[in-house]
Amino acid sequence: MVKTLPKVEIEELKPGVKAPAKETLLTPRFYITDFDAVANMNICAQEEELQAMLTEMRNDYNRHHFVRDEEFKQSWDHIEEDKRRAFIEFLERSCTSEFSGFLLFKELSRRIKDRNPTLSEIFQLMARDEARHAGFLNKAMSDFNISLDLGYLTKNRTYTFFKPEWVIYAVYLSEKIGYWRYITIYRHLEKHPEHQFYPLFRMFESWCQDENRHGDIFNALLRSQSSMWKTWKGRLWGRFFLLTVFATHTLTVHEREDFYAAIGLDAKEFDRTIVTKTNETAARAFPEILNVEHPEFFPRMERCSDYNLKLSEIETSQAPQWLKSLRKLPYQIAIFGNLLRLYLIKPIDAEKMRGTVR
Ligand SMILES: [Fe+2]
Ligand SMILES: [Fe+2]
Repeated sequence: MVKTLPKVEIEELKPGVKAPAKETLLTPRFYITDFDAVANMNICAQEEELQAMLTEMRNDYNRHHFVRDEEFKQSWDHIEEDKRRAFIEFLERSCTSEFSGFLLFKELSRRIKDRNPTLSEIFQLMARDEARHAGFLNKAMSDFNISLDLGYLTKNRTYTFFKPEWVIYAVYLSEKIGYWRYITIYRHLEKHPEHQFYPLFRMFESWCQDENRHGDIFNALLRSQSSMWKTWKGRLWGRFFLLTVFATHTLTVHEREDFYAAIGLDAKEFDRTIVTKTNETAARAFPEILNVEHPEFFPRMERCSDYNLKLSEIETSQAPQWLKSLRKLPYQIAIFGNLLRLYLIKPIDAEKMRGTVR
C-alpha cells in the first residue's frame, strides 16, 4: 500500500482566498502558442466536421445546466476535516485546469478572429464552456469558505509555450481524459449514492459531454493536419503525449488516494480504468496508442507513482535543500528510466484499427 501525502494546512492569499498550489511538473499547465500559425492553419481536410461541431456548440445544450439548485443551499460543516481538505484540493485542481482551458481558448479566439473566423468562433464557444466549469467549481469551493482568485492566477502563473501541434495533442488528451474522469465518477456515484457527499458530482453527466465535444473538436483539428498522424514524427510525438498525460494522471491520482477513498473509489483501479479508456478513445485521433495491456505497463507506471510519493516526502522533510536534491536524484532517475522503458514498449497501430473503434 502506498502512502498518501502528508497533510498540510490551507494557506491563504488573503482571508477566504486560497493561495494557489505550488506549481510543479504535475500541476495543470497554462499555455501560450504560436497564434499566427494557428490563424494560418489549413483545416480544409476536416472543414465539414468542424462546421458540424460549430453548429453543435452554438446550440449550447448545457446553457441551463450550471445552476446551483436548492441542494447546494445548506451547510457543509458536517463534512469531516480530512474529507473536506481532500475535496477542496480536488476542486482547486479541477478549477485551475478548467480555467487554464478558458484562458487558452479565449486568447486563441481573440488572436485569430480576423484571419480564421471559423476556428475563432469554435474557440470562443469552448472558452464559454470552460468559464462555466471553472466558475462552478470556484463557487463550490466558496461553500467551504475558500475560493481561488482567478485574476491573480491569470497574472501570476507561468505560461508554457507549446507549438500548435503540441497544444492539439495535449488538449485533445486532457479533454478526453476529463470526459472519462467525470463520467466514471458520475456512474460510480449513481450506483453508490451513499458516497455522494456534495451535489457537484451529479452534474458531471452533462458536464462531461462538454469535454467530450471539445475533445471531438481537437480530434478534427488533429486529423486536419496530416503531419500529425501520417509521419513518423507524428507517431513519436503522439506516443510521447499519451505517455506524459497518462503518467501525470497516475501520479496525481495516487497522490490523492484519500479523495478517491472519500467517494468510495479505489485510486489504483480508478486510474487504470481512466488510462485504459482514454487510450482506447485516442485510437480515433492518434496514429498509435499505447499497449496498456502489456504486463509491464501499469506496474512500471505505479512504480513511478511510488517514487513520486518518496519525492514529496523528501521535499516536505526538514533537510537542507542540497541534501533534499541529493536524496531525490535516484528517484528522479528511476522515474525517468521507467518512463523511457514504457515509451519503448511496442505501440498499437491505430491507423490500421481506424473505423472499428469508438
Ligand atoms: Fe471543462
Ligand atoms: Fe473542455
